[in-house]
Amino acid sequence: MNGNLTIAMPKGRIFEEALELLRKAGYSLPPEFDDSRKLILDVEAENMRFILAKPMDVATYVEHGVADVGIAGKDVLLEEERDVYELLDLQISACYLAVAGLPGTEMNDVAPKVATKYPNVAAAYFREQGEQVEIIKLNGSIELAPLIGLADRIVDIVSTGRTLVENGLVEFERIKDVTSRLIVNPVSYRIKDEVINELVTRLSGVVSLEVK
Ligand code: PRP
Repeated sequence: MNGNLTIAMPKGRIFEEALELLRKAGYSLPPEFDDSRKLILDVEAENMRFILAKPMDVATYVEHGVADVGIAGKDVLLEEERDVYELLDLQISACYLAVAGLPGTEMNDVAPKVATKYPNVAAAYFREQGEQVEIIKLNGSIELAPLIGLADRIVDIVSTGRTLVENGLVEFERIKDVTSRLIVNPVSYRIKDEVINELVTRLSGVVSLEVK
């Protein structure tokens, strides 16, 4: 079965919350979803296919049309401008992008360095501040950078704040609030408007209840 609607889901910490939201919206998703290692999961009863992608890649699958819709963090959507429509703020996985570093430190006057997984967001932020910085792209464990002298500052996601605290770092600026969004491929939205609008309606119902 191909599934009438293909949904790209982010593996990792957003996955659980996204699954819970879909279940609350009335989609019956089997229990094996919760700890499966499969990357493609078909739910025949709902006529849905789920593909499990790295959070950074969800919008890529949707942009290329191999998934009709997807759940992606606003952080990723800001970092990589994709040709997708954002249909709904799902209000899950709330966190924010922030500038952090070692307490009591100034940015180096000459060629300050900023380490991040979000080079475009970070570059735009420091450009707006009128500061010229060198961006160093890392793929994870960003908090290491100031600890070992790779960078003066980091731009990264803060969720509970534990990673910063446990590594002796402090937040200097809050850049942007982040939640997960429902995104859609523009062509899919035209062709499968009925089923996609139903998904949006059902999810909006749950989201507005949760926010109250
Ligand atoms: C994210 C983020 C921070 C951490 C923040 O990393 O990059 O490191 O979570 O969460 P906290 O404020 O609740 O401590 P993630 O766990 O996704 O792994 P990564 O280091 O590989 O990016």
